[in-house]
Amino acid sequence: MDDLRQKYIDLVASAPDESALEDLRVQAVGKKGEISLKMRELGRMTPQERQVAGPALNALKDEINAALAAKKAALADAALDERLKGEWLDVTLPGRTRRHGTIHPVSQVTEEVTAIFADMGFSVAEGPQIDSDWYNFDALNIPGHHPARAEMDTFYMARAEGDNRPPHVLRTHTSPVQIRHMEQHGAPCRIIAPGRVYRADYDQTHTPMFHQVEGLAIDRDISMANLKWVLEEFFTAFFGTKVITRFRASHFPFVEPGAEIDIQCSFEGGTVKVGEGDDWLEVLGSGMVHPKVLQAANVDPDQWQGFAFGMGIDRIAMLKYGIPDLRAFFESDLRWLRHYGFSALDVPTLHGGVSR
Ligand code: PHE
Repeated sequence: MDDLRQKYIDLVASAPDESALEDLRVQAVGKKGEISLKMRELGRMTPQERQVAGPALNALKDEINAALAAKKAALADAALDERLKGEWLDVTLPGRTRRHGTIHPVSQVTEEVTAIFADMGFSVAEGPQIDSDWYNFDALNIPGHHPARAEMDTFYMARAEGDNRPPHVLRTHTSPVQIRHMEQHGAPCRIIAPGRVYRADYDQTHTPMFHQVEGLAIDRDISMANLKWVLEEFFTAFFGTKVITRFRASHFPFVEPGAEIDIQCSFEGGTVKVGEGDDWLEVLGSGMVHPKVLQAANVDPDQWQGFAFGMGIDRIAMLKYGIPDLRAFFESDLRWLRHYGFSALDVPTLHGGVSR
C-alpha cells in the first residue's frame, strides 16, 4: 500500500496539466482504478484482515483524492498567473492622442463674413451651382456676345444631341442668386449669398473652383453711400482694424454705375498689411443694380433700387490669414489643413473670433 501511495503521490505531483490529472484520477480511484480493484479484494479477506485493510484503503483513497484536488487548484493558479502576465497593462501610461479635424479657412471665413453681415441685417440666400445660362448671364444683362460668355471662361454642361433644354453652366459668379432671390421674395431685401463658383482659370491666385459672396440690398432709397458704409463697416470688423475703401469706376453689365472697390493696405517688407500704408488692393466688384436686372426678376425699377456686390471669399481669407497660394486651398494636403485650419470650437462671433 505504501508503494501504491508513493506511486500516485509522485504521478500527481508531476502531472503537467488538467487532462493528465483526470487520467490519473481514473487510473487510481475510478470505478476500475487500482485502488477500487484493491477494495474489491476486501470481500475475500478474513474479518481481521479486513478491519486493518479497509480503513487503510479508504484513507489512501482520500489521500489521493486530496492530492488530485490540490494539484488541480495549483494548475489553475499557474494558468491564471500566465494569463495575467500576458494581459499586463500599465494604466499610468499617457493616452494616445487623437487628431482632431480642422475647419477649412474658406468655411471659417464664410462664417465670419456671415456673422458680420447678419449683424447689419443681411440674411443668407443660396442658389444652385449648376444654373441655366439665363440666370447666369441673360437675366444679369450679359448679352450673348459678352466676353464673360466665351467658352474659355465658362464651363458649359454637356448636352446630348437633340436635348432641347436651355444650356446650363457651372455658375461663373454668385450674381444669379440675386435674380433667384428677388423672383421669390421681391423687394425690399437684404441678403448675402456665399458659395462656390467656377471659371476655367489656374495660377497662383486663380483656381477653376473658388468662392464668392454676393451682397444685395434693395429698398426705395438705397444709394452708393449706403454701399460704401456697409463695406467699410464690414472690412473694419473683418480685419479688426479701421479699413478705408477706394471706389474706382468700372463696368459690370448688371450694375449702373459700377465700381471696383480697393481697400487700403501696405506692401512694405514683402507682406500685405490691410488698413495702413499708401497702397490699394482690389477686393470686389459692385454697383447700383441695373434696372434691367430688377425687371428680369419682376421687381419694378421705378419703385425700387439698391446696390449689389461680389467679393472673393478665398481672396480675403488669404489676406486676413497670410496664405500665399490659392491653389493649396483645394489640394487637401493634411499638413496645409492642420497649419491653416481652425479649431471647431473657434466659432466666429462678432464679439469673439471674427478678428484676431
Ligand atoms: N459678379 C461679379 C464678378 O463675379 C462681381 C459683381 C457682383 C460686380 C455684383 C458687381 C455687382 O466679378
